[in-house]
Amino acid sequence: MPAMRFLLTTFGCQMNQADAQRIRGILAGLGYAETVEEEEADLILFNTCCVRQHAEQRLISRVQALTALKRRRPGLLLGVAGCMAQEHQGTLLSLLPLVDLVFGPNDIETLPDLLEKARHAPATGEFEIRGGFTGEQADGIVLDRPFSAFVNIIRGCTNFCSYCIVPSVRGPEVSRAPEEVLGFVADLVGRGVREITLLGQNVNAYGRDLGMAEGFVSLLERLQDLAGLRWIRFLTSHPRDFSAAAIDRLARLDKVCEQFHLPVQAGSDRILALMNRGYTRRHYLDLVAHVRRAVPAASLSTDLICGFPSETDAEFEETLSLVREVRFESAYMYYYSPRPGTTAANLPGLLPEEERKHRLARLIEVQNRIAWEESQSLVGRTLEVLLEGPSERTPGHLLGKTRTGRAVDCAAPPSLVGTFQAVRIDRARSWTLSGTLLTPP
Ligand code: SAM
Ligand code: SF4
Ligand code: F3S
Repeated sequence: MPAMRFLLTTFGCQMNQADAQRIRGILAGLGYAETVEEEEADLILFNTCCVRQHAEQRLISRVQALTALKRRRPGLLLGVAGCMAQEHQGTLLSLLPLVDLVFGPNDIETLPDLLEKARHAPATGEFEIRGGFTGEQADGIVLDRPFSAFVNIIRGCTNFCSYCIVPSVRGPEVSRAPEEVLGFVADLVGRGVREITLLGQNVNAYGRDLGMAEGFVSLLERLQDLAGLRWIRFLTSHPRDFSAAAIDRLARLDKVCEQFHLPVQAGSDRILALMNRGYTRRHYLDLVAHVRRAVPAASLSTDLICGFPSETDAEFEETLSLVREVRFESAYMYYYSPRPGTTAANLPGLLPEEERKHRLARLIEVQNRIAWEESQSLVGRTLEVLLEGPSERTPGHLLGKTRTGRAVDCAAPPSLVGTFQAVRIDRARSWTLSGTLLTPP
């Protein structure tokens, strides 16, 4: 009998990509093979995001577009996983009656059960936030690339930034025990993984719930000693919780890549306070200065929200001036999207969508210019690159990533996929770089 096939689409942040590794692992264990064709799938799963309204609307239209296929093939199962599933739970099924199974980010282990039930009865979609780690094993995940893995070190979030839905869908912060993380990563390295990205909504809070002080940098120091592991990245840092001492200690670790994603969100102190971010503009700028002193090769990126309720023109200008002052290599930029159930959704002064969009367009223009200029400054430099796979644009070329997370394209044979190479940068667009391989085999 041919294997059953699944098609998995992942939206949202790296947390969801890490969860996708586990979902793939479970489905592989059940004998499913992966496909990218809707027509040949027996199970179509969406791993969803609900951080902004737009993300939800996109998912709803994607599922509705499958109506005809589902009518033609009644045996086809449709599933919704991830944050949107957690947010809406049972009501998702009345919104999307085509769906057969629903499970949240902390219920991935129930997938075999849900699949079995879905074959016999309609889904109820009811579940609770469980939080915590479920003893995920390195051999229970399937990696997109065999040399690179996402590793969750802290689940959930207890920050309650006023605009953000994540704490209510992902539950409170729960750190994974250091021994468990080390064992997990050692197993991955044994399987050929050379690069890991440690994940958490606030990695700097790692270990706090376990009673550890500076738990995050202590974990980095222990991972640094793991033979065979080459690069360690991490996401996301919270500017309030990244201490100067932690930066000084991690600056000494050569496996830790010089990539700092430090979401600032806004440049005005009044807006930062309304957002409940727990730091000021001055604190953030001092932190950036400290990072750049301790790690001169540091590349900085950020997240920004414009058009927060009651944000004045002058306050928005403060975001622009911060962006100009820091000169981020890249930024994820959004206009504010009200999320029901969050504190900010009840704040007075919601700006018209047109105005929020207009501010976003200006912000993007300013940041894109800076990103382009920063990219040009890399031309002529030789950078270490992990070659990840064939370039879709240029036959005969491979695409890779630098230590700072930059995409680099260069002519190279497929045999070099998964290796670290020196590449001289010849050309720069705003994000992707093109170069020449300096270490041919
Ligand atoms: N934990 C990270 C942090 O604190 O920066 C990121 C979490 S969130 C999943 C990713 C980004 O989405 C946030 O940094 C923020 O810029 C954006 N975001 C979250 N809620 C939003 C909202 N209601 N409207 C617009 N953007 C939002
Ligand atoms: Fe959301 Fe704030 Fe938590 Fe990030 S730190 S996930 S923005 S509540
Ligand atoms: Fe979205 Fe959930 Fe991440 S809401 S941004 S996928 S934590």
